[in-house]
Amino acid sequence: MAALEVPEVETDYVWQWKMLNTSIVAAIAITFLIIMRYLLWRKRYSQLMPGRKVRFFSILGNLSDLPFSAKARNEYTLNVFLLKLFEAYSRLLNDAPLFCFWFFCSPIVILHKTEAIEAFVNDTKMLDKGWFYNWTHPVLGSGLLTSNAKKWKTRRKLLNPCVGMSVLKNFIPAMNEHSRTLVKRWRKEIHKDSTDIYLDLSLCAFDILSETMLGIKVGAQEHEDNAFSKVIYCVHRGMELIIDRLWNILHWSDFIYSLTRSGKEMKKIIETSDNFTRTIIRETKEKYFKGELKIGDEKRKSLMEVLLEHHLLTKELSEEDIREEVITFTIAGHHSSATSLTWTLYLIGLYKEVQVKIQAELDWIFGDDQERPANNEDLKEMKYLECVIKESLRLFPSVYFFARHISEDIKICNYTIPKDSTCVLVPYLVHRDEKVFSNPEEFDPDRFLPENSIKYNPNSYIPFATGPRNCIGQAFALIEEKIILSTLLRNYSFESLEQRDQLPPTIDIVLKPSKPIEVKIRARTRTS
Ligand code: HEM
Repeated sequence: MAALEVPEVETDYVWQWKMLNTSIVAAIAITFLIIMRYLLWRKRYSQLMPGRKVRFFSILGNLSDLPFSAKARNEYTLNVFLLKLFEAYSRLLNDAPLFCFWFFCSPIVILHKTEAIEAFVNDTKMLDKGWFYNWTHPVLGSGLLTSNAKKWKTRRKLLNPCVGMSVLKNFIPAMNEHSRTLVKRWRKEIHKDSTDIYLDLSLCAFDILSETMLGIKVGAQEHEDNAFSKVIYCVHRGMELIIDRLWNILHWSDFIYSLTRSGKEMKKIIETSDNFTRTIIRETKEKYFKGELKIGDEKRKSLMEVLLEHHLLTKELSEEDIREEVITFTIAGHHSSATSLTWTLYLIGLYKEVQVKIQAELDWIFGDDQERPANNEDLKEMKYLECVIKESLRLFPSVYFFARHISEDIKICNYTIPKDSTCVLVPYLVHRDEKVFSNPEEFDPDRFLPENSIKYNPNSYIPFATGPRNCIGQAFALIEEKIILSTLLRNYSFESLEQRDQLPPTIDIVLKPSKPIEVKIRARTRTS
């Protein structure tokens, strides 16, 4: 019996062993085939357009050109260096209107010259956003900024009137009021050696945005630790986390990310921002039920009222739809403005002669009166200040890139861009083209004097994007910046303590300074 049983066991064992071997060989063969297929595809893709060669087996792609040791980076972060790397590629491939950059295993097509931007906007109809925007969906939902083209069209039509010129005029008093609050808050700063200006400008921009677009007075500047103000800290942290996620390819999977510490922190941030939006939606809705707000009222309506009335009248918008637009405007509407204000004030504090010219213009408009709120006529007279804001947005465009998904094969400047590619349009690089802007690194607001700016192609200067999917809030942003900066500069003088080479910009969702911007604030005397 025993002699019969042994071979039976052996047969089972051998059979299992053979199966295992075959499976391993098959798995290796399949993996090998997938890798080879990918590598051949990458080779073919790379031949379609200019770019730096990637080593055959590299999984980092062009990121392998980054200095990975902190010492080699002078202790700056990889985010600072990624931007430097894009600049270096742009210089290297200066003659090409676009180039391919391999971000790990994914190709991105970088449009860095006016011709490419123009061809993209005029010759293609690509309005869907790139894959990267999907990571913002848990926070923003699919509101105006991130929605697909079909949904975007109806929403944009509905929301355009909320930021029309006739409406914006009505926002001027609120913008003045919150700028005055900042002036009062900074009175205590004039005895300090320096002040980190970013958060204060963010709170001011948030107060303005909330009152004008959402119809609520948040009082973030007066009560820095109230529940609404905390939304600001959360939003800023959330944006940092989204960029950090880029660096870890394992975190690209939503499931794995949800298990990580960052994923859990992100979940809490989403809860906080959701609470904020749901609370203000509920409170405004109650005002309609109590008759404090009336549907169809002739008075100017905030974005929130437009959305809620549409919801109550047509049922086309759910509360969730409103939530995603409210949080989109809250973030897009204050974060980019605050960043732009910070860079602009920094540059004004660095270039004394520019500051003197702005203050002379303001003295001419307002005389000695430091209190009178700016009106629409005053804003039109702030011509030099406008040039300064525009030049600052050229050097430091808060939204330094925007991406579009390519849904069918297209041609840009004779290069074929295959279906399912991602095109990234990069104002930060476009604005540094020396064929368009001579000495591009020089801060020269005179470039934007009417007689000089006529010569620029509109697609050479794109801080607010270009084409139909441009920034809906650009007129709002310019008015807001003029009011905040003029109010500050009528009361204070500024001195920036660090030179530009000590303060390289870094990649975040917006273009942030790599360390806090410290500025010396001093009360203005008429002779200063
Ligand atoms: C200096 C300040 C600002 C800059 C530099 C800026 C820049 C931009 C850019 C480049 C885009 C296109 C982004 C993309 O396609 O991915 C954009 C979109 C958008 N911006 Fe702004 N923005 C600013 C201020 C504002 C303000 C104040 C608001 C709201 C009042 C706003 C609301 C939006 C919205 C909702 C979108 C999405 C528009 C759409 O897809 O139809 N932005 N912004």
